Amino acid sequence: TRTPVNVTVTGAAGQIGYALLFRIASGQLLGPDTPVKLRLLEIPQGLKAAEGTAMELDDCAFPLLRGIDISDDPNVGFDGANVALLVGARPRTAGMERGDLLEANGGIFGPQGKAINDHAADDIKVLVVGNPANTNALIAQKHAPDVPAERFTAMTRLDHNRALSQLSKRTGVPVSEIRKLTIWGNHSATQYPDIFHAEVAGKNAAETVNDEKWLAEEFIPTVAKRGAAIIAARGASSAASAANAAIDHVHTWVNGTPEGDWTSAGVVSDGSYGVPEGLISSFPVTAVDGRFEVVQGLEINDFSRSRIDASVNELVEERDAVGQLGLI
Ligand code: NAI
Repeated sequence: TRTPVNVTVTGAAGQIGYALLFRIASGQLLGPDTPVKLRLLEIPQGLKAAEGTAMELDDCAFPLLRGIDISDDPNVGFDGANVALLVGARPRTAGMERGDLLEANGGIFGPQGKAINDHAADDIKVLVVGNPANTNALIAQKHAPDVPAERFTAMTRLDHNRALSQLSKRTGVPVSEIRKLTIWGNHSATQYPDIFHAEVAGKNAAETVNDEKWLAEEFIPTVAKRGAAIIAARGASSAASAANAAIDHVHTWVNGTPEGDWTSAGVVSDGSYGVPEGLISSFPVTAVDGRFEVVQGLEINDFSRSRIDASVNELVEERDAVGQLGLI
């Protein structure tokens, strides 16, 4: 029998946490042969609800679940963690400026990064879901100098999955036959879903669609503003789909991308495609031997270039803002 993998989930009492924990415990994060121990990290106000969720996890009698610990101390919550899903964040409330939002989240992700640095297992993999995800991931990464930077990632897999689904609807080709779609840049309204290298049923997606107006005026805004559309319809932000994307992200990271395909993830830039080194930006990535690698050598046309640049510029501004606030 294999040693259990320690999976820490922050914001465990929140709505994504509730959609996520049962899937992790049932084996969907790491596979059917890997037992897991869960660490639920919450703030004091969230502890009671986290205990309730832990009771329900017990009541599922999941064969792979080997233990649940609950804490409001990051030093305890990340102790020995092999996988950390940073979901809990400070949401933007009415009247809050971007600087206030970044500062409030810096107060969360800085200490969590340090706790990961000091207490997590050597093979720690971190996925940041809590928004602003890319910059929160950057803050955490900067506070963990002893952890290889590449272990800090931000989630754009929900955007990727949203784009797959929209392209499938437009072309009538099932998502299982769509490959090589890319989300570039920030997990925000400036993100750029790119179909110029994508394939639908083996043919180039942009050529198959052959409709730049649809691309610019329907597809891109629908994907980029989907989060707001879900809130308008559901009265609450995406939760099950966000949890699903987090499962997909880590599963791919650990198990690899299929031959002839790639996915999207926010990873530390090595300077590829003109994205400044060190920024955590979404790229086309493959996963090989437990490492994400940016797909190299894609030709970027003018349509794509201006949109990638706009989103990357937003990431630069966020990085500069947290730098000025002394958060990194
Ligand atoms: P929620 O408000 O239901 O839950 C958040 C939980 O985090 C709460 O239980 C809260 O007590 C906890 N929390 C706050 N600060 C914490 C800290 N310092 N340590 C541990 N726990 C803490 O929010 P929900 O819907 O679960 O969303 C969580 C985050 O995920 C939000 O920031 C949201 O914007 C983001 N999100 C990101 C997506 C992506 O694609 N990257 C998609 C959807 C949501």
